[in-house]
Amino acid sequence: MIVLGIETSCDETAAAVCKDGTIIVSQISTQTIHRKYGGVVPEIASREHEKLLNEMVSDTLEDAGISKKELEGIAVTQGPGLAGTLITGVSFAKGLAQGLGIPIKGVNHLEAHIFANFLADPALKFPFICLLVSGGHTQLWHVKKISDYILLGESRDDAAGEAFDKGARILGLGYPGGPELEKLAEDGNPDTVVFPKAMMLNNNLEFSFSGLKTSLLYYMDSQNNANLNDVAASYQQAIIDVLVTKLKWALDTTNCMTCVIAGGVAANKSLRDSVKTMLSGNKVIFPELALCTDNAAMVAYLGELYLSNGHESSPAFPVLPNMKLG
Ligand code: KG4
Ligand code: ZN
Repeated sequence: MIVLGIETSCDETAAAVCKDGTIIVSQISTQTIHRKYGGVVPEIASREHEKLLNEMVSDTLEDAGISKKELEGIAVTQGPGLAGTLITGVSFAKGLAQGLGIPIKGVNHLEAHIFANFLADPALKFPFICLLVSGGHTQLWHVKKISDYILLGESRDDAAGEAFDKGARILGLGYPGGPELEKLAEDGNPDTVVFPKAMMLNNNLEFSFSGLKTSLLYYMDSQNNANLNDVAASYQQAIIDVLVTKLKWALDTTNCMTCVIAGGVAANKSLRDSVKTMLSGNKVIFPELALCTDNAAMVAYLGELYLSNGHESSPAFPVLPNMKLG
């Protein structure tokens, strides 16, 4: 089956074509305009998607060597995400699907992040544990099979990506903060500053990162000449220690041997290295970097799975900015 995927949940405009489980072409355009505001401005993001989508979809199909008439389905991110940007993508996708007379499937963005791991390793087998770490979510999922997910724990406040972004802002770095903070941390010593790690007792699988960010703020206020590389490395390490410890607890609790990492923070090299080292006895899978952050390949892949099994959305399906999984 040939499926076009469209992703507009935040500030990445993306389109991809998936054919029989293989991604033929995947295009992503990151909206750089938000950098000067220090974060995503929803209204601007919607307008940027509107400007880009038509041409991006045409280019993607052309690069894939596929005409619109050959498309057999469309998958589009239904939520969670920014209401306005989701509406832009879903309206575009509905118009195209209706015009072509083909089925459409609204896809859960979080579920798509998890399924990006099947693109990394097509031999991945259920059940597995997923550490989902994005800008809006930090969750541990017991993925039993498609559509059968148990939430083991999640953040009570900030997501891990938010902790990176807010930490980066405190350190005077640009947006998005995760990659910037990671770069700064490369030349730092992670053992320099002791930052708090919340909820680290008794196999607790919940997370909390808001205290960490406040602690960084107080630390920076109390220092005149802090070595920013060391501070960034220590801060990053505190986040990673919590994530990897809880991932290990989740594997132990469920007796699962396989784990996957998903979402933008999964692009962090230190996190990837720590997971590999700490979980050397487990099968560990990460998507390639471009499939960790927002993309349409994961949407097209998951959409094709659903559509090829007859699960299409009704033509009037709504966007769900707070869409849940499980
Ligand atoms: O999954 P994603 O692209 O968008 C959401 O669905 O939220 O995740 C974006 C988040 C941002 O908070 C960004 O700072 C973080 O992922 N991120 C990183 C890295 N690359 C992206 N965090 C740490 N290290 C990175 N290399
Ligand atoms: Zn995402």
